[in-house]
Amino acid sequence: MTAPTVVITSHLPGPALDILQDFNVRIPPSPPAGEEDLLNLLRGADGAITLLSDPVTDSVLAECPNLRIVANYAVGFDNIDVEAARRRGIIVTNTPGALTNATADLTMALILAVTRRVLEGHQLVVTGGFTGWAPSLLLGASISGKRLGIVGMGRIGNEVARRAEVFGMDVVYSSRSGAKTGAPGELVTIDELTRTSDIITIHCPLTEQTRGLFGRARLRAMKRGAYLINTARGPIVNEAELADALIEGHLAGAGLDVFENEPAIHPQLRRLRNAVLLPHLGSATLETRSAMAAIVATDVARVLNGKPPLHPV
Ligand code: DGY
Repeated sequence: MTAPTVVITSHLPGPALDILQDFNVRIPPSPPAGEEDLLNLLRGADGAITLLSDPVTDSVLAECPNLRIVANYAVGFDNIDVEAARRRGIIVTNTPGALTNATADLTMALILAVTRRVLEGHQLVVTGGFTGWAPSLLLGASISGKRLGIVGMGRIGNEVARRAEVFGMDVVYSSRSGAKTGAPGELVTIDELTRTSDIITIHCPLTEQTRGLFGRARLRAMKRGAYLINTARGPIVNEAELADALIEGHLAGAGLDVFENEPAIHPQLRRLRNAVLLPHLGSATLETRSAMAAIVATDVARVLNGKPPLHPV
């Protein structure tokens, strides 16, 4: 009997290949460049490990009658038509938990980088502009005593809240599912959070309800001089309208790890000194990405061996 075929759409750090050694594993030389590419790659596969950039649409799934599991190498799974997969009896899994700390850490890094003007300082030094200590050189904003508004109080939001409390911040959060027992901070409505926070950080999933949540109206409802941080999904923020709010000085800065049309970035954002932009690094530590690889490979092996997955969505 031939071993089932598992397609991994990109090379992964960590133990995926060891875990999948009994399977026929296919990895393309470069990740699929879109739906058509993905479809050609997945044709005939029994299991798939996909990236958050792979569009696992109903049309792709329709061409893969053997497919039993799609394991997404991410906690977010907005790239997958989960309903279509369910209809076709295909299991979808993700990597919850593994990247919580890494993403919460990166959120704090962005908060500090943008409020303390870390990149501007670096730029000044490496371009030879640092001529000596000066009382008003690159003054930023303190975060202790400031209000942090967390949109979405899941695992990552919770860890950000714990870190923010250690930094002396006053934490409020909004959550569709209401107050969280034991969570740091106070539950408020998203409108109150928007109006009263000095820094807002986004940790909700991308859904039809959250797409464009931070558009012109909400950005203008933020406090003048506030900061916006996004390590969740790009389309939750309207990039053009965020750029306007930064250019007009309504907002003091933004820290973004995710973008509306990755890897493209709104050209105006790229030119702003008060926008700190990262290439989707939320989970990018060797430890975290290896743990994520173990999770997806284990779930694929389990499902193809007739066992239930450990991380179904
Ligand atoms: C995820 O897993 O959804 C993250 O965005 C990866 O960094």
